[in-house]
Amino acid sequence: MVAFGRTRALDGVSLRVEPGETLGIVGESGCGKTTLARVVLGLQPLASGEVRVDGRPVKGVARGQAAQVGMVWQDPFASLDPRWKIRDSVAEPQRLAGQVSSVEGLLSQVGLDPSLGDRYPHELSGGQRQRAAIARALALRPGLVLLDEPTAALDLSMQAQILNLISELRRSGETSFVFISHDLATVRYLTNRVAVLYLGKVVESGPTEAVFAHPKHPYTSALIAASPSIETIGKLPPPVQGEALLAENKTIGCRYASRCQFRDAVCERQEPEWRGEQSHFAACHFVFPLPGSEDGKSLTKTNSDV
Ligand SMILES: Nc1ncnc2c1ncn2[C@@H]1O[C@H](COP(=O)(O)OP(=O)(O)OP(=O)(O)O)[C@@H](O)[C@H]1O
Ligand SMILES: [Mg+2]
Repeated sequence: MVAFGRTRALDGVSLRVEPGETLGIVGESGCGKTTLARVVLGLQPLASGEVRVDGRPVKGVARGQAAQVGMVWQDPFASLDPRWKIRDSVAEPQRLAGQVSSVEGLLSQVGLDPSLGDRYPHELSGGQRQRAAIARALALRPGLVLLDEPTAALDLSMQAQILNLISELRRSGETSFVFISHDLATVRYLTNRVAVLYLGKVVESGPTEAVFAHPKHPYTSALIAASPSIETIGKLPPPVQGEALLAENKTIGCRYASRCQFRDAVCERQEPEWRGEQSHFAACHFVFPLPGSEDGKSLTKTNSDV
């Protein structure tokens, strides 16, 4: 759990990333996605709980942490010092780890001409800068790379290039990725499994295709319906109703209840348990949607307490 004063930014989040897997984290602004990345990096202390990378607990920013976890931020300038040449920023993790620098190979791996290593960040395009930031994140061949909205600051054609690059990198199968985004289409394209965060809590997780094709949680369903895609073109997307309540220690009932059009008395007074099957679960009192129902307009009540 991560607490900022009275706000529980993350609460009861339990996630596992298998070797070679790409896990997507989706959810609205403020739901705790970046906080989760900071926790995994050891930049954000936990009030309770623990993070393990390769079986070893992460406790603060330990020296050598970069060897375990690489990080790509939304803004490439967060990874690249504007006063340093690209080659120096990319080489820095290896230099600090006492390794022989392999900048040329790293730049080639991310599709950058090695001659660009002699430029400063402002002399590159936005997409080239993000490629350089990815090269730096890969420098120590970490087992896990976190990408927090890596394409959000780029224009559309640059976004496509960076997504293709990530797709190629993940095909090599050596590294696990956590891809954080509120762009559902790219999460669907890039990831094997997905976790949906709502106010600091995972409300649904499962194989990506299963979650997108048959969402079990009303929030996931509303997110998908509100996301433009080939399937939804021509339909008016129903927005997620209401405002997200601040997670100010709301510990009773379902966090999503105030916005959920399917809420029932039980949702207000009892926190939902995980329900589902075959590694696809949701924290909802109801199984959603009823097979054969249209766009999840009916629910199967599974809780006899209702
Ligand atoms: N340093 C901080 N102090 C207090 N509250 C914080 C701090 N950092 C984050 N928060 C709060 O924690 C919650 C989660 O923030 P976080 O940045 O993880 O969201 P996010 O899902 O990454 O959002 P976005 O999509 O906008 O990047 C928010 O309510 C935010 O206001
Ligand atoms: Mg964020």
